[in-house]
Amino acid sequence: MSGVTLVDVTPRDGLQSVGPFVATKHKLDLIARLVAAGYHTLEAGAFVSPKHVPQMRDAAEIASGVAALPGTFYFLTPNPKGAALALEQGVTHLAYVVSATEGHNQANTRRSIAASLDELETFWTALPAPKPTLKLAISCTFHCPFEGRVPSTAPIAIVERVLGFCDRLSIALCDTTGRAHPTHVQRLSAEMLSRFGDAHGPWVYHGHDTYGFGVANALAAWGEGVTLIEGCAGGLGGCPFAPGATGNTASEDLVFAFEEMGVTTGIDLEKLLEIADDVAAMDGVVTGGHIRQVPRARVLG
Ligand code: COA
Ligand code: ZN
Repeated sequence: MSGVTLVDVTPRDGLQSVGPFVATKHKLDLIARLVAAGYHTLEAGAFVSPKHVPQMRDAAEIASGVAALPGTFYFLTPNPKGAALALEQGVTHLAYVVSATEGHNQANTRRSIAASLDELETFWTALPAPKPTLKLAISCTFHCPFEGRVPSTAPIAIVERVLGFCDRLSIALCDTTGRAHPTHVQRLSAEMLSRFGDAHGPWVYHGHDTYGFGVANALAAWGEGVTLIEGCAGGLGGCPFAPGATGNTASEDLVFAFEEMGVTTGIDLEKLLEIADDVAAMDGVVTGGHIRQVPRARVLG
């Protein structure tokens, strides 16, 4: 049985569509508490258009704030401008987002998939060493709110193209709408692993729990060798450009599931549940997840 690394993306995916602006200090405090609970890999913010995603407008301050914390902090970006802004702030871990479908790539980044990939290639090849660590986040890998079920040929073509100019990266299979089911996740994960292996870096599963399959889908990916699994405390989250999508699979549900199965996560579930309760109480958030609703003594006992 392989190990798992749980990644928390609350400060980015969890907060990005929350209306009332969450103070930078509050975000940094949340990140510090997640680190104290045991997370060493997080998505801390996004260098995106402040017009389109105003909640992420303090990415530069977040980047300088996390520099003092132990851990690996990814910042999401949809274009070279965001990547350049991130690097200027000393960011060393970039999550570059491209969708597997034209419909969502247009809604999310206002360009075609080809344009996104061309821009990434030009940016990446011109970047001097030492290059940052790259995570390619493929949105709508399984299902698209505009185009329905996504054939595996779409994410495969993206991976082939990116591996052509970058041979060290992690790749996130993102179920942006939460519409994937375990068999779909299992088959695609197996197809990706057998076709591309993992010499380039680990595979990541990023799931949403819209239809209640969040944990099952994560386990299906993990069972095929996807070793990094992303979630959000309190089941927050959702892409503002993916109609019908709800929150990420709750981090606390993932920790609970893996620990119950005897797979060590290194996360302190009691501390994480306190964080989840606190984020769930914030203004303007929509929460999800399951074990937060169960009497605490039964979960932790
Ligand atoms: N960060 C900050 N500002 C950016 C930026 C970035 N990554 N990319 C562009 N801008 C600025 C431009 O400089 C320009 O500023 P100006 O009006 O002061 O000149 C303005 O935004 C418009 O630039 P343009 O290239 O026309 O961008 P756009 O309006 O077509 O938006 C994206 C394109 C990709 C920046 C925008 O769609 C976006 O931020 N998408 C991210 C979506 C997201 O976060 N989704 C959730 C996570 S998957
Ligand atoms: Zn997401």
